[in-house]
Amino acid sequence: MVELEELEGVGPAIAEKLRASGFDSVESLAVATSGDLMEAAEIGMRVAMKVINSARDAAKMGYEKALEVLERRKHLGHISTQSEALNKVIGGGVETQGVTEVYGEFGSGKSQIAHQLCVSVQLPVEQGGLEGKAVYIDTENTFRPERISQMATALGIDPQKILDGIYVARAHTTDHQMLLAEKAVEIAKSDGVKLVVIDSLTALFRTEYCGRGALAERQQKLGRHIAELHKLAEMNDIAVFVTNQVQARPDVFFGDPTRPVGGHVLGHAVTARVYLRKSKANTRTAHLVDHPGLPPESATFQISEAGVRD
Ligand SMILES: Nc1ncnc2c1ncn2[C@@H]1O[C@H](COP(=O)(O)OP(=O)(O)OP(=O)(O)O)[C@@H](O)[C@H]1O
Ligand SMILES: [Mg+2]
Repeated sequence: MVELEELEGVGPAIAEKLRASGFDSVESLAVATSGDLMEAAEIGMRVAMKVINSARDAAKMGYEKALEVLERRKHLGHISTQSEALNKVIGGGVETQGVTEVYGEFGSGKSQIAHQLCVSVQLPVEQGGLEGKAVYIDTENTFRPERISQMATALGIDPQKILDGIYVARAHTTDHQMLLAEKAVEIAKSDGVKLVVIDSLTALFRTEYCGRGALAERQQKLGRHIAELHKLAEMNDIAVFVTNQVQARPDVFFGDPTRPVGGHVLGHAVTARVYLRKSKANTRTAHLVDHPGLPPESATFQISEAGVRD
């Protein structure tokens, strides 16, 4: 561990101001913008750049060999959805070190999968878990502890124990949502969190920034939020799982007239993107829409009283 004071340009006074603003590690400085640091530590641009560069050196955030990347990716964790078919399509479960998005219309099963993952993540690795805890940021008031209990019981685990391993917060505004994501980092460090859920990622953004005039601002803020989530996922080896709604596309005559909210900002920013659709006989279809290393396949699963199943 390198202390802030060991960095070039950081004396005790600046270190104290940085810590007070939440920059408590070399890594957090390495990925900060000069504007952030100028404001946080009341320093000039030149000093801010010096601090950032020195932090990047200390945190070894330059190039590395592909072999090292491969080595690190071997340690990726996977959280089971409890549907083998769905796990297979997304590469063995929901991955750590990345952001997975599921989108689909109401009732397509987004929140149900999110609940299921909060249970799964606490299981031993042999059973598809990571023996970690979960954070659930709820923007639509749809988190239900009773449903968690039901799912835990179905797997033969003590519901009390599972509920005790889930931190829940209700977000009321986009700023609040972003703050809660930041706070998740603290819990992750102190209490072994392996999964952070945001259900829904976009709902508050949609209501707060409505109309054409607010679109650019909304997209920018959403982009910033997702960048923060990536940081959270990569630096702490956590799986970030977000849900998203679809909106109608009045311009489409053939094919699917819906698309996920957030458009291209989200599409390019998430690691894996899954489209859920309700289908016959109470089943659901999941399409892997976008993934850097997997083919676009589909899986069918069900939502039963026990939870998500094949
Ligand atoms: N205990 C249960 N037993 C069986 N099926 C259930 C149970 N609880 C929920 N479901 C199924 O899950 C569906 C709700 O799915 P979910 O809440 O995940 O939708 P969503 O995609 O999050 O929708 P929204 O966009 O409204 O948030 C219900 O319509 C029902 O089919
Ligand atoms: Mg939902």
